[in-house]
Amino acid sequence: MNENPMVPDLDLPEEPSGHALSGVASMGHAVVPGAIDVSHGTILYLEDVTVSFDGFRALNTLTLSIDAGELRCIIGPNGAGKTTMMDVITGKTEPDSGKVFLGQSIDLTRMNEPAIARAGIGRKFQKPTVFEQHPVWENLELAMKTDKGWLASLRARLDRTAQARIEETLVLIGLESEARRLAGELSHGQKQRLEIGMLLMQQPALLLLDEPAAGMTDDETMQLAELLNHLRGTCSMMVVEHDMEFVAALSGETGKVTVMAEGHVLAHGTLDEVKRDETVIESYLGR
Ligand SMILES: Nc1ncnc2c1ncn2[C@@H]1O[C@H](COP(=O)(O)OP(=O)(O)O)[C@@H](O)[C@H]1O
Ligand SMILES: [Mg+2]
Repeated sequence: MNENPMVPDLDLPEEPSGHALSGVASMGHAVVPGAIDVSHGTILYLEDVTVSFDGFRALNTLTLSIDAGELRCIIGPNGAGKTTMMDVITGKTEPDSGKVFLGQSIDLTRMNEPAIARAGIGRKFQKPTVFEQHPVWENLELAMKTDKGWLASLRARLDRTAQARIEETLVLIGLESEARRLAGELSHGQKQRLEIGMLLMQQPALLLLDEPAAGMTDDETMQLAELLNHLRGTCSMMVVEHDMEFVAALSGETGKVTVMAEGHVLAHGTLDEVKRDETVIESYLGR
């Protein structure tokens, strides 16, 4: 069935194994040094974060926290500061003031972008960025081996654990039958899922997704919602999105949605609650 000698057929486990959120498993117990301390139940904490561009406050005393294991949707009008917030979390933009913590003790404002990525934060930008000239499975392999050069990882023999993880991820992102196709031949929705798979190979504790459904067909959007729902418990997620059906599919009846406007939190609650919120209707949904 499998024509590629480097990707042998394996009996696939039902669920992906091994993830960076092992800190969650240690909730209430001694915390492993170097791991993310989520003993208080919080994976990400922003307090009074302000970012100014030439005097304009893109973020204005933004305070927000994400629970460990949570899938949080963020909505809000264009220019609300959603992307800037992700830039601050990932170290791309330095805040003028405020606190940004990963778990209890990792101060992200003191770290640069690569260090923050290594600490367990993965970011999906809007446009898919995959290695178009490489087969799908190789994209996943390359994503896993960040310490070695690409050529070295291409030549390296995959150990069985790595092979199993690639196979698991292929199933998870629904691309097992596309494994040997060039990534450049995939549809937009498939490329987006592949890039999420590549981020998952790094076993992030927190995944940030900025408008991942943009440009997708309705079917692709629902497939993506299914994938993200499936990832619950594997990693915490923050999803910025405009598509309200997609947000509804992710938040369900009980999931929390944060509405941002003018650089701060306008409202927070279930999707139904924020939809009924007068300030939200006036400033965003009603328009
Ligand atoms: N590098 C920058 N320089 C100047 N202004 C910026 C920069 N990045 C963002 N902004 C401004 O900050 C505001 C928030 O932008 P952004 O975070 O992209 O909003 P959103 O993602 O919610 O649409 C916008 O008014 C935008 O023009
Ligand atoms: Mg944006």
